[in-house]
Amino acid sequence: MEINTIINILKNELDAYRLNHSINVMEMAESLAKHYGADVHKARLAGILHDCGKNYQGDEAREYIKKIGYIADEVEIRQPKLLHGIIGENLAREKYRVADEEVLGAIRWHTTGKVGMTLLEKIIYVADYIEPLRSFEGIENMRRIAFEDIEKCIVYCSESTIKFILKKGVLLHKNTVDTRNYSLMIIRDRNEKY
Ligand SMILES: [Fe+2]
Ligand SMILES: [Fe+2]
Repeated sequence: MEINTIINILKNELDAYRLNHSINVMEMAESLAKHYGADVHKARLAGILHDCGKNYQGDEAREYIKKIGYIADEVEIRQPKLLHGIIGENLAREKYRVADEEVLGAIRWHTTGKVGMTLLEKIIYVADYIEPLRSFEGIENMRRIAFEDIEKCIVYCSESTIKFILKKGVLLHKNTVDTRNYSLMIIRDRNEKY
């Protein structure tokens, strides 16, 4: 499906903020893909679709994943916002006719990240965090680091998520911790300080 066609469909699926955010993530992902030598089209496609499952919340999200046979863990069941990547991947496959596994993986893992992400998965994870609509303390620094060292940026993003989750007092998914530790180990293995 053409990206313009997807945007036209998403106009009816997402609220204005989420649509603008998705367009921004698409553009940020394009810049990062150019910078790091990833596939620009795949980056744009994954960027525009990464939150396409965001409308499914609460019980709707729980029912959706049951329908597709995904076995959610206890944290995902109690914190169903965590499921929108899984739902998004399924919608991308079924509704938006995306067959590319790399694009589908980037949509699936964008919320928590995971151990051993591909370059495209890293790009979408980071682009989601630093797109222009995002504003929080330290964001300018994070945007700069995204283009200097994506691995370090992943550590910053996951730490920022962890701090946010702790402040909110909600459940923290282990994949976020794994994502942080894994990127930190990569950095340490390069004998660099973080
Ligand atoms: Fe998301
Ligand atoms: Fe997002």
